[in-house]
Amino acid sequence: MNRPAPKIDLHIGDAFILWPKIKDASIDLIILDPPYSGDHHQDINNCQHWFDQAKRCLKNSGTLYIFTTQKIAPYLFILLEKTYNMLFNNWITWHYTQGPGKTKGFSVRHQDILMFTKSNTYNFNIDAIRVPQKSERSTNNPNGANPGDVWQFHKPKNNHKTLLHHHEKPERIIERIILTSSNPGDNILDPFAGSGTTLKVAQALGRNCTGFEIEPKMQDIIATRLSECDLNLEYNNKHMTIRENHQTNPNGELFPIEL
Ligand SMILES: C[S@@+](CC[C@H](N)C(=O)[O-])C[C@H]1O[C@@H](n2cnc3c(N)ncnc32)[C@H](O)[C@@H]1O
Repeated sequence: MNRPAPKIDLHIGDAFILWPKIKDASIDLIILDPPYSGDHHQDINNCQHWFDQAKRCLKNSGTLYIFTTQKIAPYLFILLEKTYNMLFNNWITWHYTQGPGKTKGFSVRHQDILMFTKSNTYNFNIDAIRVPQKSERSTNNPNGANPGDVWQFHKPKNNHKTLLHHHEKPERIIERIILTSSNPGDNILDPFAGSGTTLKVAQALGRNCTGFEIEPKMQDIIATRLSECDLNLEYNNKHMTIRENHQTNPNGELFPIEL
C-alpha cells in the first residue's frame, strides 16, 4: 500500500522547553524513557512535569508508555492513576539476562514499563503483535497468542558492535509498543530520544515521530541510524528532518508537529 513518507523530526534541545510547544491533543502514542538521576524526589517531580505534558498533548484515544525504575514505579503508578486520572492498562516487565550482579541480594534482571491510556477508547492492535502459541490446544487462536506482560528481549549490546547509548532500548520492544498502540500515519512523541530507537522504528513502520534530545552529540548517531534502517519491515522511508531552530507556527507550537 502506498502511504506518504512518515515525518520524522528530531529537535536537539531541552524537553522542558520543547514539550510545552507540542499542540494539545495531537499525539497518538508517547514513549517516555526519561533520565533518572537516582534522587527519587527529583525524579518523581520531573515525572509530574512530564505527565502534565503527556496528558495535555495526547489525543483522547492516546496511550502512554513509561520506562521506570523499580523504586519509583509505584509512585508513578499512583500519580498517573490518582492525580492524572489516566487509565491503567498494563505493568509490563522487560526481562533480560545480562547485567551487573549483586552479592547480597538478587541481581536485577528486569525493567518495568507502565502503560496507561487517556480514555477507554484506545488502539490495541493485538493481531499485529501475536507470538507463536506455546502449546497446541483446540481453543488456541491459530494466528498466535497474546505476548503477555513479561517481555524477554536481549539488551542491545548483544546485537550491536558498540552500544550507541548507555540506555539504548531494544528495537523489538519499541516495535511491539508501536505496532500495538498506533496505526500507520499516527503521531508518536519520544521526548528523550537518546540514540533514536523510537525514531528509527517509527520510520520503519510508517508512523510520524517527533523526538527531543538534549545531547547534541546524539544528532549524528541518530541520523546515521535512520539512514541504515535495517528492520526489513513494510515501510522503510529514509526521511528525517533535524530541527535546530525549533521553528514554531503562529500559535507558538512546534511547526513540524502540526500534521
Ligand atoms: C534513558 S535515555 C533514552 C534512551 C533511548 N530510549 C534509546 O533507546 O536510546 C534518556 C535520554 O534523555 C536525554 N535527556 C536528558 N535530559 C533531557 C532533557 N531535559 N531534554 C531532552 N533530552 C534529555 C539524555 O541525554 C538521554 O539521551
